[in-house]
Amino acid sequence: MKLGPNARFGTICLHAGQEPDPTTGAIITPIYQTSTYVQDELGKHKGYDYARTENPTRQALERNIAALEGGKTAIAYASGMAAIAALASLLKTGDHVIVTDNVYGGTFRLFDKVLTRYDLSFSYVDTANLANVERAFTPATRLLFVETPSNPMMRLTDLCGAAEVAHRHQARLVVDNTFASPYIQRPIEFGADLVVHSTTKYLNGHSDSVGGVVVAVRDDDIEWLKFVQNAAGAILSPFDSWLVLRGTKTLHLRMVQHSANGLALAQFLEAHAAVRRVYYPGLASHPQRALAARQMRGFGGMLTFDLGSLEKARRLLNSVRVMALAESLGGVETLISHPASMTHASVPPERRAGLGLTDGLVRISAGIEDLDDLKEDLAQALERI
Ligand SMILES: Cc1ncc(COP(=O)(O)O)c(C=O)c1O
Repeated sequence: MKLGPNARFGTICLHAGQEPDPTTGAIITPIYQTSTYVQDELGKHKGYDYARTENPTRQALERNIAALEGGKTAIAYASGMAAIAALASLLKTGDHVIVTDNVYGGTFRLFDKVLTRYDLSFSYVDTANLANVERAFTPATRLLFVETPSNPMMRLTDLCGAAEVAHRHQARLVVDNTFASPYIQRPIEFGADLVVHSTTKYLNGHSDSVGGVVVAVRDDDIEWLKFVQNAAGAILSPFDSWLVLRGTKTLHLRMVQHSANGLALAQFLEAHAAVRRVYYPGLASHPQRALAARQMRGFGGMLTFDLGSLEKARRLLNSVRVMALAESLGGVETLISHPASMTHASVPPERRAGLGLTDGLVRISAGIEDLDDLKEDLAQALERI
C-alpha cells in the first residue's frame, strides 16, 4: 500500500508503515520475536543485525506513529517514562528546562528526584500564560516541555505561541501529546520539535500494553535519539509494538467516540447540583475554549470535576459500577480515578494545592461504552455522596 501525500488521517492510521510481509505476503506485520538475525556472510546482512538495534515489528510501528504525528521519525520505548527519560539525553550538565507546572506526576518525579542529581534544573510554570514562559527562560534553557491539555487540570498551552517563544530562545518545544492523541492534536503542525507519548494510553487504546514513543523532526535530534535508543536500550518489545500497531488502526474511530462521550459527560456533570466545577476544554465555561477549538479536533475523552471534599470523592469512586476505579487513561473502557492520591501522589501537597489539584477532584477517562450507561452510572454514584 503506497500512501499518497494527501492521504487522510484514518487511512494513515491503517496503512502508514504497513507493508505486506516480504516473505509470505501476510497483511499484518508479524511479531518478529527474535533476538538476532542470521547474516548471509561476514559483514553482509539484510538490514537487521541485533534486535535491540532494529526489529521489523517495532520499525513498522515507528513508521506508523511518525506519520500519525506528521513527524520524520518515531522511536519507540518500553514505557512513556522511558521515552521522556530518553528525551532528557538531549540535555547536558548545567542545562535548564521549562516545564508545564501541572505535568503528569511521574514526569515531575523523574525531573525532580532523578535528573536534578545530574546538575540539570527545571522551572515549573503555568504555560497557559506565555508571559510566564517568556520570563522563565535563561541562557541555559534548552527545552520547553509542555503538556496540553494538562493532567488533570485540563489547562491548555497555545502551541503556536509556545513554539515561537522556544525558538526565539534557541530552545526546542517538546509536547507530551498523550492526553490528546494525534487525532485530536498534531503539535508538529504548530511548530513543536519533539512529541512524546505514553502509547499505553490512546495510541494502544486497549489497556493491555505499556509503551512510549518520541516523534522528532530535526535530523540532529533523530540521529542522537536513535543512537541513545540502541545505546541505552529501553526498547519496546515486538509483541507490544504489534499490539500498539493494532490499536492505531482504529485510533480515528475510537477518538470520535471518546470525544463524544467526554463532552456529554462533562455537560451532564456541569448540570448536576452535587458537582462544584468541571474541567473540560469543550465546555463553554472553560476559559480556553476558543484556543481548544483552534488547535484541537474535538476535545478528547479526559475530564476532571471537583466534588468539594475527599469524603465525597471517595464515596463516588466507591459507588461506580460500570466505570473502573483505576490509574491510567485512554483505554476503550471508562476509567475513573482520584488524582491527589493516585496519579499525582508524588506531587507534594503544597504544590498540588497551588495547582488547584484538590482532594475533592475526580478524573474520568471516558471510554467508548454507550453513553447512557455511563450517565446512569454517574447519576447513581452521585446520589450516594
Ligand atoms: C501525560 C502522561 N505522560 C507520560 C506518562 C507516562 O507513561 P507510562 O505510564 O507509559 O510510562 C503518563 C502516564 O500516565 C501520562 O499520563
